[in-house]
Amino acid sequence: MFLSSTLRSAVSYAARQVRSLHQTSARAGAGGIFVRVEAIINNYPEGHKAAATIPVLDLAQRQHGWLPISAMNKVAEILGVAPMRVYEVATFYTMFLRKPVGKYHIQICTTTPCMLCDSDSILEAIQNKLGIKVGETTADKLFTLTEVECLGACVNAPMVQINDNYYEDLKPSDMEQIIDELKAGRVPPPGPRIMLDSCEVKPTSRIQEQEA
Ligand code: FES
Repeated sequence: MFLSSTLRSAVSYAARQVRSLHQTSARAGAGGIFVRVEAIINNYPEGHKAAATIPVLDLAQRQHGWLPISAMNKVAEILGVAPMRVYEVATFYTMFLRKPVGKYHIQICTTTPCMLCDSDSILEAIQNKLGIKVGETTADKLFTLTEVECLGACVNAPMVQINDNYYEDLKPSDMEQIIDELKAGRVPPPGPRIMLDSCEVKPTSRIQEQEA
């Protein structure tokens, strides 16, 4: 249990570091972007630039907000691969956006573990609150709603990802509160909405309140 918690924290810390680097580079303009691209490529053995496809696409997406074909072509040019190789990756992973999205991209997982924990009620809460269906963006361009497969947080189902943050152990009222916070220009703290001690639920949690 301790190992799994430690491992999860380490992976999450590393992911945050990479995201932060990418965001900083994307904000730094073309100069910063190319320095970062070079640093990414240098992580891989010589002659294997193609291995950098996913992180370089991620960087391009952070610069544009989505991946237009011109960005994918530029990534292919930088990595010295056929554009088709890049299109294949960009169209396979749902993390890559092939059309513009709102400022807050809500990705709701409805795969079996989340579905069994009532992700339908979370989806319904989002749709009712925002007046949009899956695949749509609100008129003010603030929110886009996407339905995705497992995001790897099944232990804390049901959950959504909003931009880079995970919100877990949700109930409909949590989701409504998160949306209200975002509308007000505040980013609510990510993570589980119940008290957890490592992977165990603390006695004050919602689940145990329900069982009492
Ligand atoms: S099934 Fe929803 S995060 Fe895995």
